[in-house]
Amino acid sequence: MGLFISIEGIDGSGKSSIKEGILNYLRDYNPVGVREPGGTLISERIRALLLDVKSVGITSKTEAFLYASSRSQLVDEVIKPALDEGKIVVADRYIDSTLAYQGYGRGLDLKFLEELNMLCTGGIKPDLTLLLDVDPEVSWHRKKGEKFDRLEQEGIAFQKKVREGYLCLAEREPDRIKVISADRKFSDVLEDALTWVKHLLAGM
Ligand code: TYD
Repeated sequence: MGLFISIEGIDGSGKSSIKEGILNYLRDYNPVGVREPGGTLISERIRALLLDVKSVGITSKTEAFLYASSRSQLVDEVIKPALDEGKIVVADRYIDSTLAYQGYGRGLDLKFLEELNMLCTGGIKPDLTLLLDVDPEVSWHRKKGEKFDRLEQEGIAFQKKVREGYLCLAEREPDRIKVISADRKFSDVLEDALTWVKHLLAGM
């Protein structure tokens, strides 16, 4: 069995750069990098459907099922085979995104989502989850560098719920989920992330 690391956080928290930094650090292990939703032909098609602005009227439950479908395919096609081969997998988003966004963000029942996660992953959980924690106001300003309009404000209210959700999840599973303050320069955030990765490797 290999090692499984997931990276979580609200939109604009810097997950993909940190993922690249971790993959680079682990390059001698030939790690496998994936992102959600996506990572396989089918999952990328589901991703396109989910992120398309023309996809109006998707209910929260349908949304949860679509993310779960994308994950199911990714686990069967990429994550499980890689772990079975003893590889290290680094995922940009995984089960906690569903709990944070569809659960705490949209208000779906957490028990239902946990069951859904169990069904689509066959119980494969990360050994380590790095939660990049950032204030949505900061990440938004960082991204846009301008004042928000009404809809953007609504967007921030949602991101705030998601952030709080992530922090609740981290409190529930402190051994797995490590909170890293991402409101700092990239090198400092990466250094903290790598500290946890080294810790995990040491226990291999
Ligand atoms: P993406 O462009 O990958 O966002 P980011 O760059 O912030 O990771 O889009 C993924 C979006 O899907 C993001 O807004 C979070 C959302 N999402 C869920 O709502 N539930 C999930 O289970 C997953 C995996 C993602």
